Amino acid sequence: MSESRKKPFLFEYYPDLESGIPWIKLAPMRTPVKQLFNLQDKLGISSLWIKQDNLTSPIYGGNKPRKLEYLLADAKYKDCNKVLTVGGIGSNHCIATAAFCNELNLTPYAALLYQPITTHVRNNLLLELYFKNNLIYSHTARGWRLRIRWKLNEDDRIYYIGQGGSSPLGTLGFIDAALELKNQINNGELPEPDYIFVANGSMGTTAGLIIGIELARLKTIIYGIQVTPPTFSSVKNTQKLAIKSRALLAKYDKSIPKLSFEHLILDDAYFGEAYGKPTPEGLKAINLIKEYEDITLDPTYTGKTFAGLIDYVRTKKIKIKDKTVLFWNTFNSVDYSEIISKMDYQRLPKKLHWVFEHSLSKLKNSCI
Ligand SMILES: Cc1ncc(COP(=O)(O)O)c(C=O)c1O
Repeated sequence: MSESRKKPFLFEYYPDLESGIPWIKLAPMRTPVKQLFNLQDKLGISSLWIKQDNLTSPIYGGNKPRKLEYLLADAKYKDCNKVLTVGGIGSNHCIATAAFCNELNLTPYAALLYQPITTHVRNNLLLELYFKNNLIYSHTARGWRLRIRWKLNEDDRIYYIGQGGSSPLGTLGFIDAALELKNQINNGELPEPDYIFVANGSMGTTAGLIIGIELARLKTIIYGIQVTPPTFSSVKNTQKLAIKSRALLAKYDKSIPKLSFEHLILDDAYFGEAYGKPTPEGLKAINLIKEYEDITLDPTYTGKTFAGLIDYVRTKKIKIKDKTVLFWNTFNSVDYSEIISKMDYQRLPKKLHWVFEHSLSKLKNSCI
């Protein structure tokens, strides 16, 4: 059962936050939870659930709208009229940011960096066209950083959102998401999970969930499956982000408790060779959940995460008898395939045409 949201649970738990932290509703509903009966039988799990954040918004779902509710509200509050964000060329975050900028009358920009080319990456680039994102591309990290700096220096009404929207402010979206889950547990919509599996990329989702789990006093252990280089999405960096995000809350409400991090475990065993490069186990996991539950995952984030969950169960890394396992689906499920099929890559900046002008197998380091 999904209910309309009036304001974040975060503001209900801590009313002093509301006057200090700008917020705009972009995710209209609480996202439903659902038991995956077919797959739990197949995998031999007593109780397997999904949190359907694929349904956060009919404009563009996934985990981004929750972060953008705070970030774009801040952009508006600071009287910015443009937003620059950054990501790989197949970034879901850059698309989501552009989609909601359009809704709020903000002009979107995205500085994109090379990542291995897949069909998913190509489709996302075409979707950037649909959402009229102003794209800046660089093949090297150095060039990318220079272009970002140059763009920011050019304009003082441009609001900057870093990778994945995972700033201390953006992370608040997932503190709220954990409180939303607590509310669903209280309402009897699902049992309290023993384990949550979630993709850990730019870390805001995991960091926010960890804070929220502690504030809600849930027993749940969070397994963050690392999908970006483990040196980047490390335990230290994830904790650092959570500490900063908690400090932001404590600025407005001194009663916010300190974090213990007893519920956080990260695992890089399912990362594979590179960010964005699909793994065979990830692709198998995508096929399995499609076959048994008709759920679509992506190869960069959620496929690798679901592969981790399956492996934990199969190799008995976690005790699953009488346990409740929740998979947090962070991938958008609004279907843009028809729109994408009508987009012409030639309308993209010339620097990006190569993505479409060679077969996938010929593109160095690319994968299907
Ligand atoms: C589909 C999907 N899942 C998970 C993530 C990772 O979330 P985070 O960057 O907050 O760690 C992303 C980030 O872009 C994503 O697009």
